[in-house]
Amino acid sequence: MTDPFVEVIDEATLADRVAQLGAEITKDLGDIEPVVVGILRGSVPFLRDLAKGLPLRSEIDFLALTRFGYDGKVSIAMDTSIPLDGRFILLVEDIVDTGLTLSTLRKMLLARGALEVKTVALVDKVKRRIVDVPVDYAGFEVGDEYLLGYGMDWQGKYRNLRSIWAALDLSVLQKDPLALAHRIFPEHAVPAGRSAVR
Ligand code: IMP
Repeated sequence: MTDPFVEVIDEATLADRVAQLGAEITKDLGDIEPVVVGILRGSVPFLRDLAKGLPLRSEIDFLALTRFGYDGKVSIAMDTSIPLDGRFILLVEDIVDTGLTLSTLRKMLLARGALEVKTVALVDKVKRRIVDVPVDYAGFEVGDEYLLGYGMDWQGKYRNLRSIWAALDLSVLQKDPLALAHRIFPEHAVPAGRSAVR
């Protein structure tokens, strides 16, 4: 039986690429004082590491979105505490898929008076794009496998996984959301016949 999970980006590769992105963005920023805005909750591990390579004059804030429907409609569920009008914003996202989330949010922030909005995504699923949105900085271009780890989740889990894994057969996770945890840490496996979900 083929393994339904494969590690696609290991910790060292992630660390190198995130450091490169930080250096590239810092160079492009010049003397701009950006507000680095992370989209909760997937951006947290990426933003934490990326910010270490950004200028010390950067400010950091977060916002959370509510998604409704299947057409990517979003509204802001938790706003930034820093006023963003007139500011240069670096919007940080874990993964861009159809592009609907980033595109809507970018337009929303510009309509609210942001000076400029640049976007950085750790992972870009370029081939799945439905709307054309500029991803100014992208860590990795990937295919259309479902990814987990380093911020990316399945039913809220795996965001704290240190590397990125692809789920090649989603039915395995649908049956047991903790299947990848068992695959990586077999010693924690729940005995057969007992629910893996608490
Ligand atoms: P978009 O609006 O279609 O670009 O979707 C972006 C959002 O979908 C991301 O912020 C993630 O929350 C979620 N998403 C898309 N693909 C994946 C994936 O492979 N793993 C985990 N979450 C994903």
